[in-house]
Amino acid sequence: MIVTTKQLFEVAYGNFAIGAYNINNLEQTVGLFRGNADSQAPFIIQISKGARSYTHKSFLEAMIRTAEEIWPECIFAVHLDHGDEETCYDAIESGFYSSVMIDASHEPFERNVEITKRVVERAHARGISVEAELGQLGGVEEDVVGENPCLTDPDQAVEFVERTGCDSLAVAIGTSHGAYKFKGKQTIHFDILEAIQKRLPGFPLVMHGSSSIPQDEVERINAAGGRLEGASGVDPAQYLPAAKRGVTKINIDTDGRLVWTRVHREYFRDHPQEIDFRKPGRIFMEEYAKFIASRNELLGSAGQLEAVRAHLSKSGS
Ligand code: G3H
Ligand code: 13P
Ligand code: ZN
Repeated sequence: MIVTTKQLFEVAYGNFAIGAYNINNLEQTVGLFRGNADSQAPFIIQISKGARSYTHKSFLEAMIRTAEEIWPECIFAVHLDHGDEETCYDAIESGFYSSVMIDASHEPFERNVEITKRVVERAHARGISVEAELGQLGGVEEDVVGENPCLTDPDQAVEFVERTGCDSLAVAIGTSHGAYKFKGKQTIHFDILEAIQKRLPGFPLVMHGSSSIPQDEVERINAAGGRLEGASGVDPAQYLPAAKRGVTKINIDTDGRLVWTRVHREYFRDHPQEIDFRKPGRIFMEEYAKFIASRNELLGSAGQLEAVRAHLSKSGS
């Protein structure tokens, strides 16, 4: 069942975080639904601009609709990840997305406010929620490269939320996208997160760039011919402390790519004569489902389906 991110955040706030996982293809979709069904967790499906243009945006919708029929017990939201203004409007008009992210974080503050406000007006008119971003993460966001990441200013966050009317806010607290997050020790700024939560109590915050880049995964990829040197990620033991400080949505994409890369590199290394891609594909779907279930445990979302159902029936949805 597709629900809104708002409904999921109402249940999660202050207690646990909802895993927001990106999909691009069928195998990821199957692994994602299986993993969440197995761990009885609500979740958010994220669709990036790159995912929409990889094949055709309609395939993503069709896969999700089919998965919804196959796993009727799943409760999830469908979210546009890192949208620009044009893509947000397209997603809003499609009637398929529960929420959109307008990412104008690379723009100066006033322009970010102006763009976000326009998207909020269009989205709210259709009952769709908006995630916005203030501050800049390091790493790569679509085609925007953040070479000088700047952390979110807590006072500015209050002004931004008040002026834009956005429903949730992605904050820059030291994480970055991709497989190379920290040079040396991990530096997540919980002090900034606490300052933001103090100024915006009850307001859902979002942590991007949250993949953990498991070192055993990196080692297996490298042993099978990969070359990921110095890859590092967020300590997943930090997911719950972040949730306690108002983070209701934790974005994980790169870790799934690592699972895919490890499975396929190992499979074709060990079966050099094989050309039936369904064989590693099957392994990937199973491994990805296991990975999703393991993340849901760490996010605290595992086993929360009942609580979400109770909330939905109480609010008459
Ligand atoms: O933050 C970016 C997400 O990991 C999506 O990546 O834009 O390459 O699909 P993508
Ligand atoms: P990772 O690159 O850490 O998986 O972050 C994903 C993300 O933030 C998607 O919006
Ligand atoms: Zn992101």
